[in-house]
Amino acid sequence: MSRIVISGASGDLGRRVTDLLLEAEPGRPLTLVSRTPEKLSHDGARVRLAKGDYQDRDQLVQAYEGGDVLFMISGLNLGRRVDEHRNAIEAARKAGIQHVVYTSVGGVQPRNPALSAMDHYQTELDFRASGLSFTFLRNALYSEIVSNILVAPAADFGVMAQATGDGVLAPVAKSDVARSAAACLQDPQHHSGAVYEITGPELLDFHAIAALGSEVHGKPIQYTPVTADDRLAFFDSIGIPRTYDPSMPPSADGHMWASDELVTAEVAMAQGYQAVLSHHVKQITGRDPEPLRDVMERTKSVRYDQIDATVS
Ligand SMILES: NC(=O)c1ccc[n+]([C@@H]2O[C@H](COP(=O)([O-])OP(=O)(O)OC[C@H]3O[C@@H](n4cnc5c(N)ncnc54)[C@H](OP(=O)(O)O)[C@@H]3O)[C@@H](O)[C@H]2O)c1
Repeated sequence: MSRIVISGASGDLGRRVTDLLLEAEPGRPLTLVSRTPEKLSHDGARVRLAKGDYQDRDQLVQAYEGGDVLFMISGLNLGRRVDEHRNAIEAARKAGIQHVVYTSVGGVQPRNPALSAMDHYQTELDFRASGLSFTFLRNALYSEIVSNILVAPAADFGVMAQATGDGVLAPVAKSDVARSAAACLQDPQHHSGAVYEITGPELLDFHAIAALGSEVHGKPIQYTPVTADDRLAFFDSIGIPRTYDPSMPPSADGHMWASDELVTAEVAMAQGYQAVLSHHVKQITGRDPEPLRDVMERTKSVRYDQIDATVS
């Protein structure tokens, strides 16, 4: 049985996919890789833990060695992750990995203004040039981000002001992303060369999302489109830096946020780059993806960084 390497295994998506793979095949050989392998625990008899930082190519080669299929969960920080991903691609080649499943993002196109999408666009090109067999999962915005980072706080204030205009998106539950990834990893030949748009079941604009949030939370939420400059000024006012600085401390949810990433993602939505709806989750997993309303109902009293597979 092939050995699957999960790079980014200590995060929420990595844990969900690990659990799904071991549930399906308890004897599946797995290598779980992260900068902090001490955070990882596992039940599988043939699970190996390895330290691997996307900034350290040689360490990644050692971590990936012995693996056949790599689940490469994209890094988090703009400004350095294109190079980090190049390290991982080169390490995968050197370590003899046959196939990589990569978490890209929805709306990847050359002129998408979202800084995050630009990184993923470049990494997709790097994969295509690498000669490795690949599957790209272009994940739409997580429903949990919509539900718990955008809507839940707005329920307290009554207003959701964003630079998303009348743009639409099809938010996808993390459980559907995890199930899709696990299915691709278990049968890589079948999914080789595929570029999947991993979306939820419906396209919604933020007027509709605010209306949904009002019903679920039982409080009125008004969606107000604002300009990108208004949004940057708001993030300035709450102390979020404009661009990444690797030395800055993480926010309460453990991430380093910069407003240029957040606001360009909103502008990309306003310009229609997230107007993507596919049936790929159903094709890959055999199950319909969960509607946003269901995710909102289940997670409404949980903080984003405390949501895991037991909640959603
Ligand atoms: N579609 C969306 O809405 C959306 C939203 C946010 C993020 N994402 C992307 O989806 C990915 C998975 O999401 P998630 O919820 O599982 O994120 P998460 O819980 O924050 O996990 C991120 C994982 O990446 C690892 N990582 C970060 N920097 C690394 C580095 N330099 N070298 C090696 N590993 C590194 C972390 O491990 P250690 O810290 O232990 O090394 C962790 O295991 C994210 O990485 C991000 O690229 C998508």
